[in-house]
Amino acid sequence: MTKFYLTTAIDYVNGAPHIGHAYEKIQTDVLARHFRQRYDDVYFLTGTDEHGIKIQKTSAAKGITPKELCDENANKFKECWAGLDISYNQFIRTTDEQHEQIVQKIFKKLQENGDIYKHSYTGLYCSGCESFLNPRDLTEDGLCPDHLKKPEEVKEENYFFKLSKYKDRLVEHIKTHPEFIQPAFRANEVLNQLENIEDISVSRSKESVNWGIPVLGDDSQTIYVWIDALSNYITALGYDPVNPSEKFKRYWPADVQVIGKDILKFHAIYWPAFLMSLDLPLPKTIFAHGWITIDETKMSKSLGNVIAPKDVMEHFELSHPDAFRYFMMTAAPAGRDGNYSDNDFKEKVNADLANNIGNLLNRTLNMQVKYFDGEIKPEFITPADNEIAKAALAAVQAVKERFDKFEVAEAAQEIVNFSNTVNKYVNDTAPWGLAKEEKMLECAQVLYNVLESMRFIAAMLAPYCPNIAQDVYTQLNLEANPSDVKLDSLKWAQIPAGKITEKEKIKPVFLRVDSEIAGAAKKG
Ligand code: MSP
Repeated sequence: MTKFYLTTAIDYVNGAPHIGHAYEKIQTDVLARHFRQRYDDVYFLTGTDEHGIKIQKTSAAKGITPKELCDENANKFKECWAGLDISYNQFIRTTDEQHEQIVQKIFKKLQENGDIYKHSYTGLYCSGCESFLNPRDLTEDGLCPDHLKKPEEVKEENYFFKLSKYKDRLVEHIKTHPEFIQPAFRANEVLNQLENIEDISVSRSKESVNWGIPVLGDDSQTIYVWIDALSNYITALGYDPVNPSEKFKRYWPADVQVIGKDILKFHAIYWPAFLMSLDLPLPKTIFAHGWITIDETKMSKSLGNVIAPKDVMEHFELSHPDAFRYFMMTAAPAGRDGNYSDNDFKEKVNADLANNIGNLLNRTLNMQVKYFDGEIKPEFITPADNEIAKAALAAVQAVKERFDKFEVAEAAQEIVNFSNTVNKYVNDTAPWGLAKEEKMLECAQVLYNVLESMRFIAAMLAPYCPNIAQDVYTQLNLEANPSDVKLDSLKWAQIPAGKITEKEKIKPVFLRVDSEIAGAAKKG
């Protein structure tokens, strides 16, 4: 049995989900769906991060309790993920009772291990980051570089965690495990941050932050929101310092933890240090993705340019999320920033899904009906040693290798490259010309090669576009669900002899996105 455990960052619930949050959840979903086509037991965790000063302030401003705000917004995240076909196995909320209790035990364990001490401190706290900032990291105007807000000066007696004690082990781990921080170009950034690492405050006084988990045995202090949040990856599995669950033993350590580049420090420094203190193994890979901008501008409430996934879906009148999922996954190379614009969306999905993949299937099925009455005769079935069959198997291999490096956009390009190869093959062999010359067997074998290729394409595309892939299978008269196909069992020549389709049954699997729709996706 091969298990594969993957997680996303858990989102703050002080607002509704936007396409940046969606980018990460779709990316992790595509990974989960791909690895389900390869491994026996894939477990995909996501959720919401519900404590901290930001939620406390937002709810107070709205005149509702923090829990009311969390319930309202956690539901929005869940609905959004349902609309995007995010196939998570578990959704954790940090206000879940089990989570809160285990976080208290984790904090106690860190104390017992001698890694926590009390210390009076003056620092600059950014509620956007939910973190103290080092004065040397501020902008010239004294603002947080990420949130462009002035951090609040805080003077408190807090609990501190001996992060500096773990510095050498962390450096060693990063240097000896090149797969730990991916893409690799991010590792240096973390090593630089580690050079100046200091102990960190891991609690706040209850007077300043009361929306959080109290320290066991010291009600005057609230556990730092990042200990609370990071622990979700193990509390969700039922970790307990004394008596860890079977589920925890089965899935931990995580195989990949997908996060945004802005929270790499928390995941590649704080999180592994906490795990070292708890004497737990570290995740195999922390994968940091880039950020999505809108029309090349950072999304922000104040600019009024925030787009939700449903704005795009409604604007383009999409009946399922596949095109949006596909566009987002191809918007940036692994780990780099990407951009959303209505125009790029339209061009990309029309080019790849409608013109390249969709048309290939459509015109082939139409020729199958026109020349052979929709019938595949046994002699039409081609052997696995033909060039197109070899290219199909090579494409599967290439896609797998890309996924092993979590290169989701690059893997999609491998699928499109193969589809290009097949389109070129159709144009070069010109089955319509073969039919005219009455070379019917040759013509039928070309069509069979294309139909088989479409079956391979649908299986590889299913993690990105599960609905379109299913429609391709239906058009090919196949009963299976391409999402359930194991990639290693994909063999050539599996479409059986018999009637595959008839004129009335042929439908496009993806309709071109209308270029006449006026205006831009709703912004704001
Ligand atoms: N709650 C913390 C994470 C705790 S994980 C133990 C947090 N929440 S967040 O809501 O601000 O961000 C959640 C995730 O969404 C992060 O990985 C973040 O990088 C990602 N994104 C938020 N805006 C984004 C874009 N515009 N583009 C891509 N991803 C972005 O941080």
